[in-house]
Amino acid sequence: MNLSDPDLFRQAALIDGAWIARPDMEVTNPATGRAIGTMPDCTDEETETAIAAADRAMVGWRARTHSDRADILMRWYQLMLDHAGDLAQILTAEQGKPLAEAKGEVIYGASFVRWFAEEARRINGKIIPSPLPGKKIFAMKEPVGVCAIITPWNFPIAMIARKVAPGLAAGCTMVVKPSDFTPYSALAMGVLAERAGIPAGVLNILTGRPEAIGGALTASPVVRKLSFTGSTRIGALLAQQCAPTLKKMSLELGGNAPFIVFDDADLDAAVEGAMVSKFRNGGQTCVCANRILVQAGIHDAFVAALAKRVDALTVGPGTEAVAIGPMINAAAIAKIRDHVADAEAKGAARATAARDLPDAYADPVVLTGATLDMRLATEETFGPVAPIFRFETEAEALEIANGTPFGLAAYFFTRDMARAFRVAEALEFGMVGLNTGAISHAEAPFGGVKSSGLGREGAQEGIEEYLETKAFHFGGL
Ligand code: SIN
Repeated sequence: MNLSDPDLFRQAALIDGAWIARPDMEVTNPATGRAIGTMPDCTDEETETAIAAADRAMVGWRARTHSDRADILMRWYQLMLDHAGDLAQILTAEQGKPLAEAKGEVIYGASFVRWFAEEARRINGKIIPSPLPGKKIFAMKEPVGVCAIITPWNFPIAMIARKVAPGLAAGCTMVVKPSDFTPYSALAMGVLAERAGIPAGVLNILTGRPEAIGGALTASPVVRKLSFTGSTRIGALLAQQCAPTLKKMSLELGGNAPFIVFDDADLDAAVEGAMVSKFRNGGQTCVCANRILVQAGIHDAFVAALAKRVDALTVGPGTEAVAIGPMINAAAIAKIRDHVADAEAKGAARATAARDLPDAYADPVVLTGATLDMRLATEETFGPVAPIFRFETEAEALEIANGTPFGLAAYFFTRDMARAFRVAEALEFGMVGLNTGAISHAEAPFGGVKSSGLGREGAQEGIEEYLETKAFHFGGL
């Protein structure tokens, strides 16, 4: 890395305003497999210390005016933009995504900080007419309290921004546990948060393995909320661990997004949408199209056009001008290859040319003839694999699309406006894209139904997740 501000690269946890450096664990660059640095493996005692610090810091932080917190968040936003180049380099080094995409993630992440800086000033309560004379009822909004934030490796900056910014805007304090694959982006965000004026103890960042930290966070009665992005299996486990202390929870979990192309779709727009939705972050996105359903009349033209675009994708180290970087680790690559092998063994055919890529990379591939008995029909591949399922009727497409326990994102392409509303209403998903493959914006509610989780991030809904409503009954008037 060639950082213009090397101080952003911290190999230390942030607890109560102190940076704790201890070379317990290495972090590797997925492109080279070589270590880029170390980090402390924080213990449960250190987690307790961070929780206690966040609890003490609540008193001062919630007492600040909303506009004061908004100003601090706005400074954090501006610092992210000012340091976007360095943040992108750190992100690419630990996560692998191409530099241009990493910079896009920094800007995407910063958009949440800005959005919630603006929302901080609009945390309004209500006055409710009382059923009795001489009384008024106020619904007052208050911060939930100390929050535990557990973030994934696929969007290490954007997911912290999307969870921490609304919490801070609401007046909560935070204990953040970034993925042990990608701690440095989070720690750089911590440096910028300090520079923006976020006081000691308000934002704590713990590095290391998840078991001890997660166990202490979920068990603590002081922690009043947990927000997690990751797999459904771990989300369910965290929910179990949080049950005895009944924490408020936001869970953004796995998906199995259908992407439906009807015969009447604009072919070019559908192919472009598929590229955006499927190959963003090399397919390592929970809203990525996982099952591409194409109606018989447009099937061959769509496959030919998509395969041409996929064959043109460049793959290599994220520091070069490529479209797809390395996958996060060997386990991810093994799963992707297993899905493709399983599909081919069950009759799928490649519509794209085979490549001979080094071990760190996955072959971007379009597979035709996908069927429901294949692993990629029921599991998230989390890689650059585009399986095409052919269908005949709208009813059949909807049955396949909804035939999953997951309900995060769905996409469809049609020019028939009656069908647009019919299908949007019939899809059992938290987010639906019509004639677009891009659905991630700070302004839009993000989240799923069924096994894809609880709650919404971003948008006006995002700040509600960090607020409680207190009913204040005011008598004697
Ligand atoms: C995710 O994959 O977890 C988030 C993707 C997004 O924000 O678009």
